Amino acid sequence: MLKALQKAGRLIFELPQTWLDRAFGNALNPLCHLGSLIVFFLWIVLVSGIWITIFFHTSVVGAFESVEYMTIDQWYLGGVMRSLHRYASDAAIVTLVLHILKEFIFDRYRSTRWFSWVTGVPLLWMIIPLGITGYWLVWDQLALYVALISSELLDALPIFTDSMARNFLTTDSLSDRFFTLLAFIHIIGLPIFLVFAIWLHVFRINRPRINPPRKLMVGALLALLALSLVYPALSQGKANPAFVPESLALDWYYLLIYPLLNYWPPASVWLLLLGFSLLLSIAPWLPPARKPAVVKVDLENCNGCERCVEDCPFGAVEMAPRSDGKKYASEAVVLADLCLSCGICVGSCPTATPFRKHSALLAGIDLPDQPVAMVRDMISTATRDLAGDRRLIIFGCEGSNKLKKFIDAETAVVTLTCMAQLPPTFVGWVLSRDLADGVVLFGCSHGDCQYRLGAKWTEQRMNRQRDPRLRKRVDAEKLALLWTEPWSDFPNAATAISTFRDSLAAATGKPEPELPVRPERPKHYFRAAGVVLAWGLFAVTSVAFTIWPRFSQLEKGNAIVSLSFSHAGQRLEECHRLTQEELNKLPPNMRKPLDCPRERYPVKVSFSADGQVLYRKSLAPSGVWNDGESTVYFRAQLPAGRHKLFIGMSDSNRKQGFDYSGQTELTLAEGQHVVVEFDDLQKTFTFK
Ligand code: HEM
Ligand code: SF4
Ligand code: SF4
Repeated sequence: MLKALQKAGRLIFELPQTWLDRAFGNALNPLCHLGSLIVFFLWIVLVSGIWITIFFHTSVVGAFESVEYMTIDQWYLGGVMRSLHRYASDAAIVTLVLHILKEFIFDRYRSTRWFSWVTGVPLLWMIIPLGITGYWLVWDQLALYVALISSELLDALPIFTDSMARNFLTTDSLSDRFFTLLAFIHIIGLPIFLVFAIWLHVFRINRPRINPPRKLMVGALLALLALSLVYPALSQGKANPAFVPESLALDWYYLLIYPLLNYWPPASVWLLLLGFSLLLSIAPWLPPARKPAVVKVDLENCNGCERCVEDCPFGAVEMAPRSDGKKYASEAVVLADLCLSCGICVGSCPTATPFRKHSALLAGIDLPDQPVAMVRDMISTATRDLAGDRRLIIFGCEGSNKLKKFIDAETAVVTLTCMAQLPPTFVGWVLSRDLADGVVLFGCSHGDCQYRLGAKWTEQRMNRQRDPRLRKRVDAEKLALLWTEPWSDFPNAATAISTFRDSLAAATGKPEPELPVRPERPKHYFRAAGVVLAWGLFAVTSVAFTIWPRFSQLEKGNAIVSLSFSHAGQRLEECHRLTQEELNKLPPNMRKPLDCPRERYPVKVSFSADGQVLYRKSLAPSGVWNDGESTVYFRAQLPAGRHKLFIGMSDSNRKQGFDYSGQTELTLAEGQHVVVEFDDLQKTFTFK
């Protein structure tokens, strides 16, 4: 099931991946830099957010006006900043979804990688509320909807005794202090947690790519800037609790679950969210990945050079003081829990050389399942029967099973876990022993190596920029590096391999190829058009689901009536005046003349429109001692037009009738919002 899902996912990714590879080149393919692109979008959000904060008023009256000022009067700067702030937030979510899907589809979330995956889940719980509180601050009609639904969700949690949603039903119930608190959460609280959580997310990764390549940053920024100028972010009319618009442009990236509240009770929505987060958190163990034997250090051959520590992408090797009395200062130690058995450290170890004559081929660090001695044997066996003067050996990494198709009389294929598992000395060995006339290394694309840094290290080692380097005496023209996704770029790779074979200078005397040989890419103007199209599509996707489909919060032709009040039921027992004798029996500090049992009756409420009961409930008193107020909060839609409304309430143990009641006859306009409240001083109901 898991495999089938991943296979289907790869098929879906294949087309955009190939297309973007051609346009951007595989080192710059945005699909290979998703994690760092999210970080970049968050940078844009931060910088534009600082600008907005300078002009933002944290008050009920000022919030909307100040955002309007930025959007309209200062459109060329404040407006652009506002749009960038919104669109970069949406772009972060689009990229985040792709990031999660990609890690899942390419199976980079199980085994040792569980840590990055599991620490990613709280990131979702920070980034989504960050967006929600942002929409809330604007204090337009969408903000009012966000405030109401968020409060209804929070009211379902046992945090507040009173209903938070009641604060957003009338203008006078709102306070500026609430806006200050919200701004604090949005601007300071959540971002601080987010930064810490991102740090934790990449904590166990060696050299995490936090910043995308500069060209991608420029492209992403230009795309969002163009979008901000062409389609500036706007507010949706000042928040007015007395009027509810029939439909809203909803940002589905952040508010996807909100419409569910129209159909489900808040508790069920919480269950869905918690269930989803739990499922996501345990995904790395559903089922756990098979863990191959981890690398082992052989102290006899370890000289403490630290290259394995430098090159391991997962921080799975560290140096420790020498334990065997040898003259070297330190020795490599493998942290088995972190090791993914990729073999990149083996490729970095200077002792992993096939040229040894007098001793067995044992490396300082080696993979038990495919040690370097075995790799040497595999090469010898694979090349034994090659014939002709253009013989090739192709080394492929584990994802490149399609390479087997190349095997013929002139071509041998050897598959390794990662390309960087092959120490550069092996290339010299193959050529000097005349096992082949040319060597091709066929690995995953640059930004997208299954083991993160394998492609990068291999290219640097083979280009003699990183130790262990390809020896100077090795003819580099007989080596070709192909960084491509074998499943996406296979026809191109085939062409590149045959071009390389044809041009093997030593064998044929034909012109020498440039190194590294890459699959032929489309002409530059096609590539430029591809890049522009890709960023354009991305920008359109980032904005599309923030305006479409519109969300209809009210059925056409309807109005809304809300019940909103708190009232304490009468005490179960009357207060009892203590006699002097009773008082004398009590300790002096507890002598109160009145003894009032705390528990109260529930408050029973019935609300009807035109004789039809819409709400009838018995509401328990709040508090551990059942002595607090009972809270009524209810919303219902009614068709616009004339209605008779009746509300009755009992706060005693009476069985028939009501202690208090109120009724009115009124004409509701479409979208009108009437709030029924109870005035505890006057003991009357109001319909406002
Ligand atoms: C604010 C949101 C997030 C940001 C900024 C972010 C960023 C990053 C970055 C920069 C990396 C390192 C990439 C590299 O150097 O190879 C990474 C890796 C990773 N992320 Fe995220 N990420 C986020 C959310 C998530 C979520 C929600 C999940 C999954 C639930 C996730 C799963 C992973 C995994 C599994 C890796 C490790 C990949 C590997 O070891 O090759 N991330 N992320
Ligand atoms: S096999 Fe890979 S993960 Fe394990 S120590 Fe070596 S480089 Fe690190
Ligand atoms: S690269 Fe090899 S020799 Fe160097 S510290 Fe690691 S195991 Fe030892």
